[in-house]
Amino acid sequence: MDKVGFDNAYESIDINAKTIIDGLERVVMHDADLNSDNLNSEMDIAALPFSQACENNKQPILEVLQTELQGCNHVLEIGSGTGQHSVYFAPHLSHLKWQTSDVISNHRHIMAWHHAYPAPNLYSPLAFDLAHDSVPVSSHLDSGHLNSSYVDKPYDVIFTANTLHIISWALVERLFALASDALPVDGKLIVYGPFNEDGKYTSEGNQRFDAMLIAGNPDSGIRDKEDIVSLANAHHLQLLKTYAMPSNNQLLVFRKR
Ligand SMILES: C[S@@+](CC[C@H](N)C(=O)[O-])C[C@H]1O[C@@H](n2cnc3c(N)ncnc32)[C@H](O)[C@@H]1O
Repeated sequence: MDKVGFDNAYESIDINAKTIIDGLERVVMHDADLNSDNLNSEMDIAALPFSQACENNKQPILEVLQTELQGCNHVLEIGSGTGQHSVYFAPHLSHLKWQTSDVISNHRHIMAWHHAYPAPNLYSPLAFDLAHDSVPVSSHLDSGHLNSSYVDKPYDVIFTANTLHIISWALVERLFALASDALPVDGKLIVYGPFNEDGKYTSEGNQRFDAMLIAGNPDSGIRDKEDIVSLANAHHLQLLKTYAMPSNNQLLVFRKR
């Protein structure tokens, strides 16, 4: 099994399930241990919901973000998952605020990571279900300190990792429409994950991963980069840069026109 299969194995897993797949990935959940009164000991930290994929990809993603997010102020992360990315990125990007979000069922896991690894610029998850919510506004924003354009468009960056192949195409469309509405001109939408090129898989690992995704949910699946770019264009989001990432993943940076 090559590293592609390893890196992406997690992405097909409902993180609310206690699951071990082929020994490739572990998502460990000990619900009783997630009591927030109890999260500071070493043992409790070891019991946090855990994604090996996040551990593998967090440093390469951070290195791109450190370049792309220079001069940026406020990131909304969509689909924060376990929260591992957010606790790693926020302290390394201390010049900005990192606002997490996800469907409510994931919040206690994200909160558990935030409780174990707090950072002053890291914010508790907002409820955001792409199926029916509009872009949530951070409750920590004090409009008294902000100019009017910032209140209207509070995030200058929207970041999402490993979500586009999990959600349906209809929700991918909704994500781009909402992101475009929410971002100011020159704001950035940054998406990380596996993509097909010219309708073809970029690796056998991604092909196997896609088959696994579709077997679990026919609405999921690796998206064609060309489809994503044309969807983005339709929403005034221009592809600025594509970063090749480890394990045949890519990081796409779009700018709002
Ligand atoms: C594979 S996980 C990725 C998590 C994390 N970003 C990472 O890279 O490890 C997919 C994420 O998409 C989120 N998600 C799925 N459906 C969603 C929806 N309708 N609205 C918002 N987020 C959703 C899941 O809750 C989960 O956090």
